[in-house]
Order: sequence, then structure tokens, then C-alpha cells
Amino acid sequence: MSDDTLKKLWENPANPELEVALQSAEAANVCTAGTRELTPEELEAHLAKVEEYKELLKNQVDERRYAHSLNVADAAKELAELNGVDAGKAYLCGLLHDIEKNRPWDEQERYMTQLGDDLPDHVIQNKKLWHAPAGAAFIRDELGILDADMIRAIKYHTTGRPNMSPLEKVLYVADYVSIERDYPGVERVREAAYRNLDEAILIGGRFTLISLLERYRVVNYDTFAMYNEVAAELGAAFEESASKA
Ligand SMILES: [Fe+2]
Ligand SMILES: [Fe+2]
Repeated sequence: MSDDTLKKLWENPANPELEVALQSAEAANVCTAGTRELTPEELEAHLAKVEEYKELLKNQVDERRYAHSLNVADAAKELAELNGVDAGKAYLCGLLHDIEKNRPWDEQERYMTQLGDDLPDHVIQNKKLWHAPAGAAFIRDELGILDADMIRAIKYHTTGRPNMSPLEKVLYVADYVSIERDYPGVERVREAAYRNLDEAILIGGRFTLISLLERYRVVNYDTFAMYNEVAAELGAAFEESASKA
């Protein structure tokens, strides 16, 4: 469904088609054909290929991105262990999340299309976001990593989305706090990350939104909805504790 159709439906909230439309948009948003849960044996087999995947990654991205990927993998593993998430899946997601980042635009576009999901216009119109769905298709189709949760974590690692699984949150946050990150305020997000993933999403999401708004950029719906979800959960209490600190 196009964003235009959704907007038209929003204009008339009494329209009974709205709920159906939103549900189908949500379903389209998270369905990735051909994915399922990996068996423990299949996961083991992929973990046994870590060195091979590192070699592949090294050939696909520049040096800086390679170092970033190793760091995100380490951070994702640590955050997974702290949050009862499968550390092997988290490590692989961290390692491979940016595998399409430095690839030519036409290749990113091809893999993004190959994913087969009905992507929202705000992703299609922003090339910087392509590597996430493209990377998801790459690991599914080239590496045979069919795990639905891992594929989604990679697909949404740039924008986030509401209703993220614990693995999705781990990757999203690990990408914000990996050891080489030095944007202003990173210490605060990092400190929150190792205490509570949702707090890190609240603070990190706020940074992202502020930075987009300051540059008059489009704010994408998934990021906004993710932020609203955590803000509704812990925003007010968080503001109170932050002002006492
Ligand atoms: Fe990325
Ligand atoms: Fe990244």
C-alpha cells in the first residue's frame, strides 16, 4: 500500500477500511518471504562460517565500515547476553548488518527489490536507507540465513520500528553504541544501553529525530512510531528521573 493511500484513509478516521488498511500495512511491513526460525543446527552451521563471513564482508565494504561491523557485532553480543537474547544470532546480525552499505546503488536497489516486501515510500525515496532491506535480502538469498528475526533486525536497523523483537532492539542499539562511535551524547546512550534497551532507544531515537528536524529532513514513520511507543511506556517517568539526576 502506498503512503498516499494511507494518508487518504487517515483523513477520515471513521472509514472502516482504515483499520484493515493499517493492519495490512503492518503485515506488509514485517513479512519477508521465505523466512522462518533457524534450527539450532542451522544456526551452528552459520556460526561456524564466521571467519568466511568476515572475509566476504572485508571484500564488500571499506576499512572503516569493516571495523564498525566488527564493533557492532561485539556490542550486539554483549547486549544480547544481558537481555536473554541469542548471542550467536546477535553477533551475526552485527557483523552483517551493513554488508550492502558500500555497494553500488543499483546493486542495493536490486537486493532491496528482491526482498519482496512492500516497502514504504519514505524508504524508497531515501537512498541512505536502502542498505538495510538490501542487506536483509543479501543474507537471506546469498548466505541462506533464513531466520525471520535476524532478517527483520537487519531490515530495520536504520529506521527501527514499533513492536521490535528483543533481537531487533539489540542490533538497533548496538549500532548506536559500538565502541568507535563518538557523536555528541554517545556516552549517555551507551550508559543507558547496558541498563535498559528501551531507555537507549528513547534517548537515541530522540537524537535521531532532533537531528532530522534540525536539517529539515523527512522523519520516517517507523522511527516516529518506535519513538512514540517507548515514550508512551517510559517517557514521563524518564524525564522525572533525568531531572533529579
Ligand atoms: Fe547501517
Ligand atoms: Fe551500522
